Amino acid sequence: MKHFLEVDDLNAAEVTEVLELASMKEYPKNLDGKGMALIFEKPSLRTRNSMEMAVFQLGGHPIYIRPEEVGLDKRESVEDVTKTLSCFHSMIGARVFKHSTVERMARENKIPIVNLLSDEAHPLQALADVLTMQQELGDLKGRSVAYIGDGNNVFRSLALASGFLGMEVRFSGPSEYQLRDIDRDRLGLAGVNFTEYSNPEEAVKDVDVVYTDVWTSMGQEQEKIQRYKAFEGFQVNEKLMSHAGEKTIFLHCLPAHRGEEVADEVVDGPTSRVWAQAENRMHAARGLLAWLVKKNIEEEEKI
Ligand code: CP
Ligand code: NVA
Repeated sequence: MKHFLEVDDLNAAEVTEVLELASMKEYPKNLDGKGMALIFEKPSLRTRNSMEMAVFQLGGHPIYIRPEEVGLDKRESVEDVTKTLSCFHSMIGARVFKHSTVERMARENKIPIVNLLSDEAHPLQALADVLTMQQELGDLKGRSVAYIGDGNNVFRSLALASGFLGMEVRFSGPSEYQLRDIDRDRLGLAGVNFTEYSNPEEAVKDVDVVYTDVWTSMGQEQEKIQRYKAFEGFQVNEKLMSHAGEKTIFLHCLPAHRGEEVADEVVDGPTSRVWAQAENRMHAARGLLAWLVKKNIEEEEKI
């Protein structure tokens, strides 16, 4: 069974298929009469709303589940929750603290699991990001994206998706928050053209896209002050954008911590495409879900 826990659960050709489905004006009714459970251990604005709308557009019925209703591994084990939800639904989407939680759900192999953000990955966000870049730039082969800040879940998924589509990927963050060897290895294995820079001004030079995300992710709130100090000098502001190209666009997965990783002048400025990017969360989610249903039916038919 095909699950979607990280971008490299798909290959480059499959990412392209998903993006084509995401851009279709007529929506296939792949989820007609079916349910999708959406479990959130953390808050969400974009992911919950875009997923609910995407399921509805495919003819299905989304059910949002608050953390305290389920109590993953508190009230009931992750495995028992997965088995129970698969009695009612055709898919489960989960936003979790530990990536191992979505892996455990997937191991049950009852119904497809979609990662709605974990500490390791945010693959649906990355699909929306590459869709936005395609809309702005056309074919992404030979284009470049510079990610400034924390090498976190959003960066890992973005690097895989944009690398798969032939983009050059650059990263610049403070020395205390460099990428892990495991991240470098995974990007290498995926064939991503990837470079690390100590100086953010050099990293953004002549790139097509500048991207940033929060310095303190959900679950890291106790490190906020320490991170705020460490990331000084890595804010995306007009000065940093002036080192990029004249046509460089700015992306951010949102929510933005304005005044920290990004200045108002950039989020609200002429280079920003963050609202198109937010809208694309819905289109990308619809494309992915439609693809996943189709793929799993094809796999079943082969057996
Ligand atoms: N970008 C994103 O995942 O936003 P939410 O946390 O609001 O879902
Ligand atoms: N890196 C952020 C992304 C939020 C959409 C977090 O995990 O909180």
